[in-house]
Amino acid sequence: MKYVQKFGFIGAGQMAQSTIEALVNKLQISPKSIFVTNKSSTKAQSLADQYGVQFVGSTDELLDQATWIFLAMKPQDFEEALTGFVKAFDENHVVLSFCAGISLEILKNYLPTAKNFVRVMPSLGTRFGIGMLPYVWSSEKRNLETTIEDVLSVLGTPVLATESETFEAAMVGCSSGLGFIYELMGIWKDWLEERGFDPELAHNMVVQTFKTAAVVAEKSTDASFEGLQNKVASKKGVTAEGLKALREMEVDRVLRVSFEKALLRDEALQDQVMQQIGRSSS
Ligand SMILES: NC(=O)c1ccc[n+]([C@@H]2O[C@H](COP(=O)([O-])OP(=O)(O)OC[C@H]3O[C@@H](n4cnc5c(N)ncnc54)[C@H](OP(=O)(O)O)[C@@H]3O)[C@@H](O)[C@H]2O)c1
Repeated sequence: MKYVQKFGFIGAGQMAQSTIEALVNKLQISPKSIFVTNKSSTKAQSLADQYGVQFVGSTDELLDQATWIFLAMKPQDFEEALTGFVKAFDENHVVLSFCAGISLEILKNYLPTAKNFVRVMPSLGTRFGIGMLPYVWSSEKRNLETTIEDVLSVLGTPVLATESETFEAAMVGCSSGLGFIYELMGIWKDWLEERGFDPELAHNMVVQTFKTAAVVAEKSTDASFEGLQNKVASKKGVTAEGLKALREMEVDRVLRVSFEKALLRDEALQDQVMQQIGRSSS
């Protein structure tokens, strides 16, 4: 599909760079249709030099030039980056935010003249174009979903959440979830090292074991996780004994508490941002 839209990035950090690279290389967007602004001009200028995108000196100019506006700054810089430009957003802009802790409701309240919003939660995988990309959107435009999916699918696998609650759960499961998995990987590696493997080999053994589990699960579309476990564990065998211990020690409870605590923290962060924005606009 050929896109005639123009894309603007407020913030020229890691996420902007990954997205620009994917838009140019995978969606064949002309770099001349991509505009970038940043707090320090050196970063935006270096993206312009590297990809041939257009560095613009002001957010006003960026909003003038582009229709799809990526909010690619850290959540704590959200307000500072947009204050003074709030009314420059209009109904033609599609505001696509990467900012953790900035809900769709906050976006709508803060940018009342804009009418089209997408909230996306990237993950460490986004840099490599892999991983699930939870998103929610709200728009007065019809048929926007296909374009949103096309744009997001160059960064990973978009997963549409129907409401805020499911978005937050998808965020914890798919983005924070990577952090939980690395915790498990660290424990795995420590144990292998204690058993005599050198750190580098232990690291590779863990990475390959987790990768094998993921690839086999991906390829075995007809098997549940339980079905796959049954293929590994024979009755009264080695794996079965280890699984029994995991269950007796309630590993499910440990993980569920971790997921719920992460959700609570996300709620608290959103309240904090709401209060901060409320304070500065009153
Ligand atoms: N990277 C990830 O894996 C990941 C995962 C999940 C969510 N996210 C979200 O994605 C967003 C971007 O993350 P990132 O990793 O790309 O962060 P980053 O590398 O720190 O980039 C943020 C950029 O925003 C710029 N900025 C700060 N204040 C600004 C302002 N007032 N006006 C314009 N630009 C401003 C910074 O410029 P200076 O350097 O000059 O200050 C920096 O280049 C964040 O909201 C983050 O929560 C990222």
